[in-house]
Amino acid sequence: MDSTQGAGVTDADLFEMRWARAETDLMTPLMRLYGGVIEAAVLRDRLRALLARKWAERPADLRRLDLARDLDPSWFLSQKMAGYVFYVDRFAGSMAGVSARIPYLTDLGITYAHFMPCLKPRPGDSDGGYAVMDYGQIDPRLGTMDDFRDVTAQMRAAEISPCIDMVLNHTAREHAWAEKARAGDPVYRDFYLIFEDETLPRAYERFLLDVFPTQAPGNFTWDADMQSWVWTTFNTFQWDLNWANPEVFLAILGVILDLANAGAEVLRLDAVAFMWKRMGTQCQNEPEVHDILQAINQSASVAAPATIFKAEAIVGPHQLVPYLGAGRHTGKVSNLAYHNSLMVQFWSALASGRTHLMSDTLARHFPDRFQDAQWATYIRCHDDIGWAITEEDAEAAGVTGPGHRTFLSDFFAGRFEGSFARGADFQVNPDTGDARTNGSFASLAGLEAALEARDPVLIDMAEQRILLGHALIAGFGGLPLIYMGDELGLVNDPSYLDDPDLAGDGRWMHRPRMDWEAAERAATAETPAGRILRGTRHILSVRAATPALRGDVPSRILRTGHDRLFCVLRPGLEGTLTMVCNMTAHLQQIEAHRLDMDARDLPVDLLTGHQPVTEADRIVLPPYAPLWLHRPVW
Ligand code: GLC
Repeated sequence: MDSTQGAGVTDADLFEMRWARAETDLMTPLMRLYGGVIEAAVLRDRLRALLARKWAERPADLRRLDLARDLDPSWFLSQKMAGYVFYVDRFAGSMAGVSARIPYLTDLGITYAHFMPCLKPRPGDSDGGYAVMDYGQIDPRLGTMDDFRDVTAQMRAAEISPCIDMVLNHTAREHAWAEKARAGDPVYRDFYLIFEDETLPRAYERFLLDVFPTQAPGNFTWDADMQSWVWTTFNTFQWDLNWANPEVFLAILGVILDLANAGAEVLRLDAVAFMWKRMGTQCQNEPEVHDILQAINQSASVAAPATIFKAEAIVGPHQLVPYLGAGRHTGKVSNLAYHNSLMVQFWSALASGRTHLMSDTLARHFPDRFQDAQWATYIRCHDDIGWAITEEDAEAAGVTGPGHRTFLSDFFAGRFEGSFARGADFQVNPDTGDARTNGSFASLAGLEAALEARDPVLIDMAEQRILLGHALIAGFGGLPLIYMGDELGLVNDPSYLDDPDLAGDGRWMHRPRMDWEAAERAATAETPAGRILRGTRHILSVRAATPALRGDVPSRILRTGHDRLFCVLRPGLEGTLTMVCNMTAHLQQIEAHRLDMDARDLPVDLLTGHQPVTEADRIVLPPYAPLWLHRPVW
């Protein structure tokens, strides 16, 4: 396998060097996790052998990419990175269909493509593919692993990094490991959390929350075959893996490296917050989770260094930061994590027309940058929106937590007087009063209602809200993720109600099928889809040309005292960008000096290419306008 590279350095040499680089950062967390159950030397040898085997299997072009990224480890922090998130079938029919759509992605400015769950799911309801039956196969309805290899190779050639979901908190109950556990195999029983009687489940349950209180209440499921209880945090058919077992770590690591070798450059690690269980806690965000994430990341740095990891942890502000590296894990865990808080605050500011809560929360809880990591910024995704606003943050902004959360769920379900939104409640929990929200970006932003009313003013407002959201995630700091269809303003799709496998899960309302006809017309059409598509493309192209928007440039929330504007400073080495977002339907003004600017010599707004309009010494912002005021550094 060894080919000669560079100055006589063989691939085997590279492996040794990378092992030497990672060994301590790899073995230290592993011994904290598993020191009590396996000897260090045994685990080290097994792990090293696994990594060496996967490295030996790694295709030559990916090894070249490994080298390129070892030389440029901050590649993913580039302002040229912009992501697109899609279900393969809903976007393009099949894996081969995705290849045919690469020019569409390139044209939009996309350099990162997230394939929503596409490994073989259990039959029937599979939680949108998050109940995986076989990690080694692509869902046969979409294609084969070879098809996936083909499309990732084509994306690589087009400089698009493929991202794939890795569901590692649980498998489907139909997975071979679960089948063996059910058949009584003790090795595989230990892959899951199985209890013969209700004592422990009950004791755990006292502290656990319900993720799906309506569709799957409780965290344990009785399995008649085993006459036992199984830990199932999500749906009854999703069996939680026992991450306290090193065999689970090794097995999942093998799967991850196989996917990396098939061309996945980004692994979206699903539901990571739940991986470690501890009696007497909510079993979320336990410190061991970060040790597991570090061990996975450091393993890939040996056997597939081109790979990065995105943590999906939709948790409160306090718990979120460590997913991008804090304390002893700094710079060593996930490279990306969803900025759930920014997303929630965008919607909260749109609904209330106020920005104190947004500015306060974002300034209070989050550092202005991370080491070797950045946010994945987004406005909508395939999941519901949980109104994660803490009591403490709400009170600091003069509202109450429960009051504001209820206002948001009412507003976005369209119940609040004057609301423009057309969303729906999800998983209303009568015990806690918590209600989450479903709905597509366009429908929540008012486009659906405006189109129905055929009101050009309302349509324009809704378009501006969508473009404001896209400008916010492109300018805030982080890798912006556009959810499929949001670049065209696709509205809610109720057709899922006709499919018995989907009808029970309201999240399908905002997972529409791609409207290729609208997309084709959009290039030139004076329609909402056309304007939103061209506006989004423009935002991404300006972003790509602006180094101040790199992920390693700090994002500092500017406290101007103006409760209608949200302002962020990006002090890059080559230029400073001040993003000012008008979160309201009204014209707003701000004195230039409050942005540390001189009204007589204002920087250019990169989005319009002009200096902003002024009124005396005040900068004027049209309704929902984002400004990217950029001052070059000489
Ligand atoms: C993640 C996914 C969500 C899924 C859950 C269980 O939160 O985004 O869609 O239901 O994990 O896998």
